[in-house]
Amino acid sequence: MQRIGVLTSGGDSPGMNAAIRAVVRKAIYHGMEVIGIKHGYKGFIEAEMGPMNLGSVADIIHRGGTILQTARSEEFRDPRGRAIAFENVKRFNLQGLVVIGGDGSFKGGMEFYREYNLPVVGIPGTIDNDVPGTDYSIGYDTAVNNVVDAVNKIRDTATSHERTFIIEVMGRESGCIALASGLAGGAETIMIPEQPVRVEEICDKLIRGYRRGKLHSIIIVAEGAASGIEVGRLIKEKTGFDTKVTILGHLQRGGTPTAFDRILASRLGAKAVDLLISGEYCSMAGMVKGEIVAGNLEKVTTGRKHLDMDMYQLAGVLSI
Ligand code: F6P
Repeated sequence: MQRIGVLTSGGDSPGMNAAIRAVVRKAIYHGMEVIGIKHGYKGFIEAEMGPMNLGSVADIIHRGGTILQTARSEEFRDPRGRAIAFENVKRFNLQGLVVIGGDGSFKGGMEFYREYNLPVVGIPGTIDNDVPGTDYSIGYDTAVNNVVDAVNKIRDTATSHERTFIIEVMGRESGCIALASGLAGGAETIMIPEQPVRVEEICDKLIRGYRRGKLHSIIIVAEGAASGIEVGRLIKEKTGFDTKVTILGHLQRGGTPTAFDRILASRLGAKAVDLLISGEYCSMAGMVKGEIVAGNLEKVTTGRKHLDMDMYQLAGVLSI
């Protein structure tokens, strides 16, 4: 394999740059050439592509976001869009493709492989940590730390004013960020899409706590579980407590990646190149129990990652 392409797709996640750097440098180490594709599959269709060298990935390991930029491409879902992308595969003489993104991005890569036989390897990059076949995806650790940092700050003002705070975090279909940040931040209640809980139950718990002398509370709500604003409105209505809502939004996705994410990204990026070289196409580089492994991309895109419900129970026990 002489020449490969690399792109980032879907929501950006901190550490994607470290992964791009690892792909480019590991490929060059093996005597290969790398074509960077901008704006994910959108740029693949629009030929926003150009060669990358050792210098193109200098000074990026510590930067959040992605130097290749990213997009969610509707056009690539359409066979006509993929046909145009294949013209660019021929034009740039690509023999393999590394896709850094979430399972939606991998589905596009799989489809492309089925139609045009271009070897594709995935690297999980999403703050949601909802990609099966890996314990961690790139950006999740940074996002959790961003949330915990915010929870710490909110706790200061929550205690000072004796308020109940609802903090809405990202995770459309996954409660991973909510659970980890809720446990690490000592939240009283964590609302996740995987385990629906009624607001009445939350209110009962808040009132029990209040009777024991607890004057402030932190409730973490995953966006996929409920709307933070709506939860805040209902709690205020049912308890009469001074209730405030903070939606953390996209600040969770930004900032310098943690050392964990940089190391993970470097290892997965290097592994992705190894997988292309060894002919393990349609695979994903992942980390399972601390080991860097190859997963089957088909299984990744059809499977579902399960949340650690023991951890959820524990968070409940510790926040009594
Ligand atoms: O998939 C990552 C993610 O950050 C989700 O947690 C969130 O729901 C979504 O992206 C937001 O997407 P966008 O940036 O397109 O609004």
